[in-house]
Amino acid sequence: MQTEVDTLWEYYPPKAEKNMAKILKIIQEKNLILRKKAEPVKDPNSAEIKELIADMIATMKDANGIGLAAPQVGVSQSLFVVGLEDKNYVFINPIVKDISDDETLFEEGCLSVQKIWGPVVRPKKLTIKAVDENGNPVKIRAKGLLARVIQHEMDHLDGKLFIDKAEKIYTIEGQRS
Ligand code: NI
Repeated sequence: MQTEVDTLWEYYPPKAEKNMAKILKIIQEKNLILRKKAEPVKDPNSAEIKELIADMIATMKDANGIGLAAPQVGVSQSLFVVGLEDKNYVFINPIVKDISDDETLFEEGCLSVQKIWGPVVRPKKLTIKAVDENGNPVKIRAKGLLARVIQHEMDHLDGKLFIDKAEKIYTIEGQRS
């Protein structure tokens, strides 16, 4: 019996190789993919989408980001990831509703617009409905930084960048416009 078990092991590739996420290229400001409205994800449970999500989370962490939308890695589909306080969120085909009237000003940056920052006014609270990485429906009432990141990423799915909305734009050298 021992011999049979030993033989069986040889048929399985090591787990680490099977699950290795890739670091993707983050496309930059001038690329027109960032200006397209993203298409709905047809099958959130497909192997391609699961691989894309794993790669996007790895790419976001590698770049020290707290959010990344699929168009930023050249995939014009309605999906983004958020990483806050060691918790990762995945939002597929998201819809935002119940946006609060009260707004707040906050300095934003973007992995696709490097070395540039600017203050953007956005509503403080919202509700997001989406599908998660397991294909399950999620509904979150978000506030604070999570609400801020969600709105920034929703804009990416709409072909908008924070520099379109920022009251001022700063570079390392100073104000750009
Ligand atoms: Ni961004």
